[in-house]
Amino acid sequence: MSSSKDPCSSAASSRGNWGSKLGFILAAGGSAVGLGNLWKFPYLAYSNGGGAGDQQGAGGFVLIYLLAVLVLGLPIMIAEMMLGKRTQTTPIGAFESVRPHTLWKHVGTLCVITGFLLLSYYSVIAGWTVEYTVKSVTSEFSNYDQAVSEEMVREQLWHDFVYSSEGEAALIIELGQKPESLSKALTDPKLNTLKQVVTDQEWKRLQQNEEGQAKLSELKKTLYPQKLFSEFIAHPWKQVLWAFVFLAMTVGVVIGGVSKGIERWSKILMPALFVLLIVLLGRMLMLDGAGKALSFLFRPSFETVTASTVLNAMGQAFFSLSLGMGVLITYGSYMKKDDNLVSSSYSVVIMDTLIALIASVIIFSAIFSYNLVMKDGGTGNLFTAMPVIFMKLPGGILLCAAFYILVIFAALTSAISMLEAVVATFVDEFKWSRKKAVYIISAVTFVLGIPAALSYNLMSNVTIMGKTWIDFADFLCSNWFMPIGGLMLSLFVGFVFTKKDQQEELPEAHCKWFPFPLFRVLVRYIAPVLVVVVLLGMLFGAIQ
Ligand code: TRP
Repeated sequence: MSSSKDPCSSAASSRGNWGSKLGFILAAGGSAVGLGNLWKFPYLAYSNGGGAGDQQGAGGFVLIYLLAVLVLGLPIMIAEMMLGKRTQTTPIGAFESVRPHTLWKHVGTLCVITGFLLLSYYSVIAGWTVEYTVKSVTSEFSNYDQAVSEEMVREQLWHDFVYSSEGEAALIIELGQKPESLSKALTDPKLNTLKQVVTDQEWKRLQQNEEGQAKLSELKKTLYPQKLFSEFIAHPWKQVLWAFVFLAMTVGVVIGGVSKGIERWSKILMPALFVLLIVLLGRMLMLDGAGKALSFLFRPSFETVTASTVLNAMGQAFFSLSLGMGVLITYGSYMKKDDNLVSSSYSVVIMDTLIALIASVIIFSAIFSYNLVMKDGGTGNLFTAMPVIFMKLPGGILLCAAFYILVIFAALTSAISMLEAVVATFVDEFKWSRKKAVYIISAVTFVLGIPAALSYNLMSNVTIMGKTWIDFADFLCSNWFMPIGGLMLSLFVGFVFTKKDQQEELPEAHCKWFPFPLFRVLVRYIAPVLVVVVLLGMLFGAIQ
C-alpha cells in the first residue's frame, strides 16, 4: 500500500468496535435484511416474472439473482468490508488514506450521494409499514364487510371465471379463438356481455344461501386489502407524514451512536422476524396455492428473461446486500483486526437470500391460493397479500401487527445503516459534530423524499424516462450508482491493494470455503467485467 501510515496499526478503539462477532453479523445482516427482501424482491419477482397471470414464471429472474449474489455480491461484500477494516475509516477517507489526492475519493462522494437518494425513497416505503402497523392495531382490517363494493366483487368473480377451465372454454366460443392472453381478456370489450351474464349468475348464487354468504365474506376479505392499499397510496399527506415518522425513528437511533442501540436491538428483533417468517411459511405451505407459488418462483423459465431482467437482478443483488454505497466500509471499520471477513460475509449473504426467498414463497402462496390480482406490477404485494393471510388466521390481527412491527424494524436497521454511513462520513471528513450531521443530513433527505412520497398521487403524471420519481430514484440507485460503486470498489481492492494486503485480511485459516485465488479472480476480473457488461448493455439498450 502506498500510504505512508499503516492503516492497520490504528485499531481505532476510540471509534467504537462491535461488541462481538455475532453483534457484527447481526448489524451487517440488519443492514442487508430490509425492505429489499420483504418488499422489493417479491415485487421484482412478480413484475419480472410477467405477473402471476399467464402461466409465466420468475424462475429465470430468481436464478440470475442467485448467480449475481454468488459471483458479484459475495466478492464485492468482502472487498467492501476489507477496505473499511483496513483503513478504519468511512467511504471518502478510506480511499483517500490509501491513495491520497486522487480521484478515487470521489467513489466515496458517489457513495454519499447514493446514500441521500436511497434513504429518501426508502423512508417512503418504510412509512407504509408504519401505516400498516397502525391499521392492524386499530383493527382496520375487520371493516371489510361494508367497505368492499359489489362492483369489486364482480370484478373478482369475472377474474376467477376467466382463469378457470370452464371460463377458458367459454372465451373460445365467444371470441371464436383462444384469447391471446388471459390478462388481456379481462378487459376485452368484446367480452362485456359474457361478463355481465357470468357475474350476474355468480352474484346471485352468492346471495342465495348461507354457504354463498360465507363465500362472499371470504371473497371480501381478499379484496379489502387491495382497496385499502390503493386508497392509502393515493393519499399524499399520509405518505409524507409516515416517511417523516420513519425518518425520525432512524434519527433517534443514529443520534445515540452505533454499538449500543443497533447491536442490542438487532440481537432480539432480527431472530424474531426470522422465527415469525418460518412459522408463516409453514402455514402457507399447507395452502393449495403453495405448489403453484413454488413453481412460479423456482421452475427455471426463461420466456420472461430479457436484458432488463438481468439488470434488475444485478441491481437487486447490490440493493439487498447493501453493497456499493459504503455501508460496509463503515461497518467494516468498526471490526477488530482478527475478525473473519469470509465467514461474516457468508453469514450475511445466506441470511439475506434465505429471507428474500421465504418472504416470496409466503407472498406468492397467498397470491395463488386466493387468486389475488396485483396492480402496478405488484409494488403493493407486501401490503395487499399479507393482510389477506392474517385476516384468515385465528388471532391473525395480532400476528399482523407483530409482523408489520418486525418489518418496520427490519427497515429501520437498514435505514440506520444508510444514515450512519453518510453521517460518519461528514463527521470524519468535515469534523461536524455527530448531532449536527444527523440533523442536517436527515432534513435534506426528508425534503428529497417528498417527491417520492407524492409519486403515487399528486405527481403520478410527472415521469422521467417513463418512470415516476420514486421508480426513477430506485432505478438510479440500484441499477446505476450501486453497481458503479461496487465496480470501483472491486477494482480498488483488486488492483490498488497489493496481494499481500489482501492476504493479510484473508489468511488461509479463514479461506476454507472461499479459496484466496478464487477471491482474487472474482474481485479483479470477473465481477468488474460482469458489471461493465450489464451497464453497457443497459446504456445501449436505453439509447436505442
Ligand atoms: N439492503 C437493504 C434492504 O434490502 C437496503 C440497504 C440498506 C442498502 N443499506 C444499504 C442498500 C446500503 C444499498 C446500500 O432493504
